[in-house]
Amino acid sequence: MKIDGKPYRSIWPHADGRTVEIIDQTRLPHEFAVLRLATMVEAAHAIRVMQVRGAPLIGATAAYGVALAMREDPSDAGLARALDILGKTRPTAVNLRWALARVGACLGNLEAAGRAARAWAEAAAICDQDVAINRAIGEHGLGLIRDIAARKQGGRVNVLTHCNAGWLATVDWGTATAPIYLAHEAGIDVHVWVDETRPRVQGALTAWELGQHGVPHTFIADNAGGHLMQHGEVDIVITGTDRVTADGDVANKIGTYLKALAAHDNGVPFYVALPSPTIDWSVRDGLREIPIEERAAAEVETVTGRGVDGRLATVTVTPQGSTAANPAFDVTPARLVTGLITERGIARATPEGLGALFPESA
Ligand code: MRU
Repeated sequence: MKIDGKPYRSIWPHADGRTVEIIDQTRLPHEFAVLRLATMVEAAHAIRVMQVRGAPLIGATAAYGVALAMREDPSDAGLARALDILGKTRPTAVNLRWALARVGACLGNLEAAGRAARAWAEAAAICDQDVAINRAIGEHGLGLIRDIAARKQGGRVNVLTHCNAGWLATVDWGTATAPIYLAHEAGIDVHVWVDETRPRVQGALTAWELGQHGVPHTFIADNAGGHLMQHGEVDIVITGTDRVTADGDVANKIGTYLKALAAHDNGVPFYVALPSPTIDWSVRDGLREIPIEERAAAEVETVTGRGVDGRLATVTVTPQGSTAANPAFDVTPARLVTGLITERGIARATPEGLGALFPESA
């Protein structure tokens, strides 16, 4: 999508053919900075500290991480080391495991000399596939927004989203945002309620990218969603996800579950947009089987933003001596999910619903 009118992806190979570039998301929305990743260790670091984030982009970066590793050490030991280090960067998004398995599988039987080029090509293919998948998700989700617009006789369609499942979290388009971008481009009057998403405020990333693309949006405190739903101000909730079980349970950014509860109580449709690599067919019970990342307490204790003097500052919001906890994801049970928007269509959040769309995996 566009930044200052110029089309970007969130990750791209540098013209030197040996390094890869990303947008440093720890500096957005206040500063736009491009970062060059030259080694596997740098790629792992970028994932760990969330310079790149969002399940599909984590997977894409890890794939390039293997390619960078193969330039340094294409031996079997080098490959095993890269898969191990990259695989331990973040626990919840299953796209990481998926991407590493995919690149690892195509390198396993290759001579060491051919591994770097093959991994590079596979990482690029993963990126291109992600863009195509998200575009398809957008087409399917657009139908939902069109239906609401028709029901409201052209009145404004209000979508609520949580975290950033936008193009910054994928390679392009985003998952939750793809239907929104397409609706906007189709001339539908669509407006987005953007949850702040404490503690890391990924909502600011969503607001930034929607703003860059000219999509009307309003930034709200995380606690405002239930109130807005009670007053008929939300027509549909669309979120992304880091892992969906074969039974349709959804792990996503902390706070998603509360939005699903509020949506359920108010009869607001709650949809989750996902590319098929986000489905973990090996697990069924999301609450028991999905590992939830615990991040540093400092992310909860502090907030970073631009001060009145225009400078970036980090301030502490908790009293001295209080402890803070930071579970980064939660699980929304399938029963609260109206539908799963995938590249193959919209599935019910049930084993049968997912199985009908992906019979080869179910
Ligand atoms: O911790 P983050 O910022 O990586 O979490 C991101 C999310 O929770 C997204 O909603 C999810 O990865 C889907 S991105 C299309």
